[in-house]
Amino acid sequence: MDKKLLLIILPLLIILCAGLIYSLTQKTEAVTSIEGGLMNKKILVAYFSWSGNTKSIAEKIHNKVGGDIFSIEPVTPYPSDYNETAYGIAKEQKDKGIHPPIKNTDISTYDVIFVGTPAWWYTMAPPVMTFLSENNFEGKTIIPFITHGGGGGYTIDKDMAALAKGSTVLNPLIIYENGNANTEKEITNWLSKF
Ligand SMILES: Cc1cc2nc3c(=O)[nH]c(=O)nc-3n(C[C@H](O)[C@H](O)[C@H](O)COP(=O)(O)O)c2cc1C
Repeated sequence: MDKKLLLIILPLLIILCAGLIYSLTQKTEAVTSIEGGLMNKKILVAYFSWSGNTKSIAEKIHNKVGGDIFSIEPVTPYPSDYNETAYGIAKEQKDKGIHPPIKNTDISTYDVIFVGTPAWWYTMAPPVMTFLSENNFEGKTIIPFITHGGGGGYTIDKDMAALAKGSTVLNPLIIYENGNANTEKEITNWLSKF
């Protein structure tokens, strides 16, 4: 190849590659904190809880961050019997992708919304899906907290991001059942990273 041509093409190629690498690293770098921290933000702790574990964690978080707290309530409550809920209605909703109606919620005035759910059939509970898909989360920050019975947090944070269009979803807190003697410390440490 002509040397002159190479002298022109080579720098162009280098610039092109550098640009490509830069843009790729920018895209993969996840947002992990809130600009300016949690201070001076309008905070809501919203949670669904069937047997009380997620409620107990929600209250601990609320005690530390302040703001408002409310429980996401399906219009038709789940049966109090475990098998009826787990293997009946919850399983059916999961399999059919049903988002059950919930009582009215309005998140429009909040900047940061902590969203709590139990792990139900490897993802969030269906009323939380309704909450995330029915409200406008454009420009809002979601911080998930999850309680589970041994399966962990699955991909619930990513599932939340997919439903809450336009939101930024930060690092979830994942707690086994309703926690243990270390849970308060764990929550404080988790919150300090935002
Ligand atoms: C319908 C249903 C489905 C569940 N699915 C899972 C699951 O997939 N993985 C898991 O680890 N635990 C599962 N569990 C256990 C709950 O996630 C766990 O007990 C949770 O802490 C309950 O939260 P709550 O008391 O706020 O309702 C399930 C429980 C129910 C009732």
